[in-house]
Amino acid sequence: MNEPIAPHLLERMRAARRVIALTGAGVSAESGLATFRDPLTGYWSRFNPQELASREGFTRDPRRVWAWYLARRRKAREANPNPGHYALARLQDIYPEVVVVTQNIDGLHARAGSRDVVELHGNLARFRCFDEDIPVDYTDPADAAPIVDDDPTTWPDVPRCPQCGGMLRPDVVWFGEALPVAAWTRAEETALASDLCLVVGTSAIVYPAAVLPMMARQSGAMVVEVNPDPTELTRRAALSLRGPSGEMLPWLVAQIAGGGASA
Ligand code: OAD
Repeated sequence: MNEPIAPHLLERMRAARRVIALTGAGVSAESGLATFRDPLTGYWSRFNPQELASREGFTRDPRRVWAWYLARRRKAREANPNPGHYALARLQDIYPEVVVVTQNIDGLHARAGSRDVVELHGNLARFRCFDEDIPVDYTDPADAAPIVDDDPTTWPDVPRCPQCGGMLRPDVVWFGEALPVAAWTRAEETALASDLCLVVGTSAIVYPAAVLPMMARQSGAMVVEVNPDPTELTRRAALSLRGPSGEMLPWLVAQIAGGGASA
């Protein structure tokens, strides 16, 4: 059973019209996808981000980086949205404007029915030419051999761009790269215009995404955090709900909608 939300906070959430939800890897944890900074299971506790998520790393060992992203793409494709993703989509029945701004590249918000999703860090399902930086179609064959992270004999060759013969890369943002301009502009505008900002499943330490809740707060939005652990943002949030988003978000949305779901 969760602590009841103070009536004045619930009223403030119900009075909101424009909602931004900033999400991170934690919202997909209950779909079976790893986070980055969990000390035991997070990607960055097992892998060096500079080797796997940078232009330099890709140039040094393209097959390894390609294999890592292709394996993640397969996991994301096989995963299903969880009750946290669905609860965010349900907010669309309550509020006139709901924008999900995500750092995730797994596509699960759209699959759960969120109609307005801003992807700050790209999407695992898309590819582009490393040299020309143009989108390129690539289909990973359904019957392709499995990829094992630490077994180079299972890493496929990097496919080539049909235009120039250069290597394909995933259409994701790597360390040291700028965010897609249109996505960032939209995210900033949405944060500044919002009156409720949900921050879900992110450690809120990677910039510029981490600045969005601060922008929302400075322009008057109520900030609500959903995370099993405290983060950099916790002391600035009007409300922090401690627990997995697959449980806390359906409960929160039921409270806002006036229902009596318990957890
Ligand atoms: P992190 O791994 O930094 O943080 C995940 C957060 O999710 C942590 O605060 C966890 O406490 C929380 N969490 C874990 N399980 C959860 C659950 N079931 N429900 C809710 N929250 C849960 O991931 P991000 O904040 O997404 O960037 O990381 C931001 C960026 O850093 C990523 O987009 C990626 C990474 O390097 C790039 O690759 C460019």
